[in-house]
Amino acid sequence: MARSFPEGFRWGTATAAHQVEGNNVNNDWWEWEHRENSVCVEPSGDACDQYHLYPEDLRLLATLGFDDYRFSVEWSRIEPEEGSFSKASLDHYRRVCATCLANGIEPVVTFHHFTTPRWAANDGGWADEKIVDRFTRFCEKTTEHLGDLIGRACTINEPNVVSYIGYQMGLFPPGVVDADLWRAAYTNQIAAHRKSYDAIKAGRGDFPVGLTMSMSDYQAVPETDDKAVKTRDSIRYFGEDIFLESCRGDDFIGVQTYSRTRVGPDGQLPAEEGVPTLPLGYEYYPESLAATIRRAWEVTEQTPILVTENGIGTDDDDQRVAYVRAALHGVLDCLDEGIDVLGYTYWSLLDNFEWAFGYGPRFGIVDVDRATQERRPKPSARWLAEVVRRNALEDR
Ligand code: GCO
Repeated sequence: MARSFPEGFRWGTATAAHQVEGNNVNNDWWEWEHRENSVCVEPSGDACDQYHLYPEDLRLLATLGFDDYRFSVEWSRIEPEEGSFSKASLDHYRRVCATCLANGIEPVVTFHHFTTPRWAANDGGWADEKIVDRFTRFCEKTTEHLGDLIGRACTINEPNVVSYIGYQMGLFPPGVVDADLWRAAYTNQIAAHRKSYDAIKAGRGDFPVGLTMSMSDYQAVPETDDKAVKTRDSIRYFGEDIFLESCRGDDFIGVQTYSRTRVGPDGQLPAEEGVPTLPLGYEYYPESLAATIRRAWEVTEQTPILVTENGIGTDDDDQRVAYVRAALHGVLDCLDEGIDVLGYTYWSLLDNFEWAFGYGPRFGIVDVDRATQERRPKPSARWLAEVVRRNALEDR
């Protein structure tokens, strides 16, 4: 007996400008990839050349039957220098949106997906409060140009990752380890989301707006240990809750989940014995999606949920299908519990530049030949396309 998703449930795939377009040379990540002793395995280079090949990718997406395409606009292309806006770049993204619509696909536009223009990054970045107005103005100008074509907008992608890994772990730009700058960064991100949310809503077009959050199924180990629970709650509060609480009442919250995080009395624990781990080092744990949907629903006080990223970096496409099947059963369980899950977006359409890990981890349902840029749909693309067509999943 198949399990059906609700009528109108949205099915999408996602990418991000810096990971697929190629040659985003004017942002902090390009600088980060090319600095001496970079932590990056390799530079992004041409990526998937989607800046030029997007018509082909959108046709492919349409043949697979998806409703939505989530992509990001590149701030450093649109505003290469402070206050100087490129109409040519805005027109490029208008063409991308128009091509989505011409293929019957709704554009889901992310305004900030990890990358910041060099001029802003080198003038305090997220740790300087000037970024709040700078980012808001960029959103206003972009909405003015694209708003009538946008189907849904995400203000900032995974602010928790950008601020924590960039300002507390030092592994993403700007590569610092400073608790005060981390606090300043996440404070400004929350302010920037609020201000840009209002600016986008007040601007051209009429479409839902939300923030997308990197989430993990945080588990206290053992769950009967008070100290482990307290440690888990503290890590999760600063990692997720401070952002989720600020999104209460938004049009939607984007949930982006891949695995779980086990937390003992003294902090994060390694993978559990016997549980497979993936190339990025975290556990194969598809049940994490349902757990984080429930958590986001609770902490945002029942703000509608859109799964804006879920997927698996693996060379084993059968494992990808098994992971997504299990994750989607979790989504159906959440729907059965009365949680308003608007849709599911698979990360990613294409194998692409996985930030500091380079092109090794392959999340795509479509393979990209690094030498020729040829796109080759994997069996998982056909499997997921069938789920989308039926809007249903075969039973567990
Ligand atoms: C993130 C980003 C994506 C990643 C994806 C796989 O969540 O880190 O949104 O850019 O590529 O999540 O790790």
